[in-house]
Amino acid sequence: MSRPVGAVTRGTTGHNRLRRCDRWVVAVHGRRLRTAEWPLVVDLGYGASHTTTLELFTRLRRVAPRVEVVGIEIDPARVALAKPYEREGLSFRLGGFELPVDRPPALVRAFNVLRQYPEADAWRYWEVLCGKLAPDGALVEGTCSENGRRAVWVGLSPEGPGTLTFSARFDAFERPSDLADRLPKSLIHRNVPGERIHAFLRDFDHAWAVSAPYGAHGARQRWLAAVRLLAGSWPVCDRPPLGGWRRWRLGELTLPWAAIDPRTGSAP
Ligand SMILES: C[S@@+](CC[C@H](N)C(=O)[O-])C[C@H]1O[C@@H](n2cnc3c(N)ncnc32)[C@H](O)[C@@H]1O
Repeated sequence: MSRPVGAVTRGTTGHNRLRRCDRWVVAVHGRRLRTAEWPLVVDLGYGASHTTTLELFTRLRRVAPRVEVVGIEIDPARVALAKPYEREGLSFRLGGFELPVDRPPALVRAFNVLRQYPEADAWRYWEVLCGKLAPDGALVEGTCSENGRRAVWVGLSPEGPGTLTFSARFDAFERPSDLADRLPKSLIHRNVPGERIHAFLRDFDHAWAVSAPYGAHGARQRWLAAVRLLAGSWPVCDRPPLGGWRRWRLGELTLPWAAIDPRTGSAP
């Protein structure tokens, strides 16, 4: 076997840390995984423990009983630690961005992995991973806080990035732009005046501020009001499975990637 592609990085992880993304994956991709004949899901860079991969497996199996989950890690010691937790439909193996699997995955999740790479590599590995997906497959690449209360992720297809999702517990931020510290590598350095991601977070903060009176009914009502307001000037996804109040009430918001793509256009 040739050397795995990539580099060993910090293995920080934690119980239930990726729950917000798992919940979104089930809502957005659950039906596709349920109806696929032999769906393969890869959790790339699961870290110092098998936990988040096992949690993903458990949540997906509830909606897609035929799904097979493979955790891939570039650090052999972390693979050895995870091996005892293998079971029918769940396995762990050594590998990197080359994805050592026997068929194109229906879904690849890579969380808190690319943030530790230089920005140019993050763009390049998006392309590499998208090129390995099944024709209707998806890559979910994101970053979250240590306890998972703040998270941002990108949804990609074989054609490239399609959506950007913000997700936060209502007591985990003061204003929406606090989530900027969780932006994926391809956006984190673009959060400066003149860039669209910066304009979006500025407008989200404004919508949040003017929705303050709704806070009397709780932060959830304030978030819902702010998102509705923001949807007047930004193409916020407002239909299921990506949008609508059922998603927004969870402290979530999804935008089409094109709205903030740093490679095209400038800030409004
Ligand atoms: C910060 S941990 C993230 C763990 C888990 N995904 C989470 O979010 O809780 C990042 C892990 O990705 C692994 N990693 C980095 N590059 C990788 C690659 N190219 N292929 C597989 N694993 C990789 C690192 O070795 C590290 O264990």
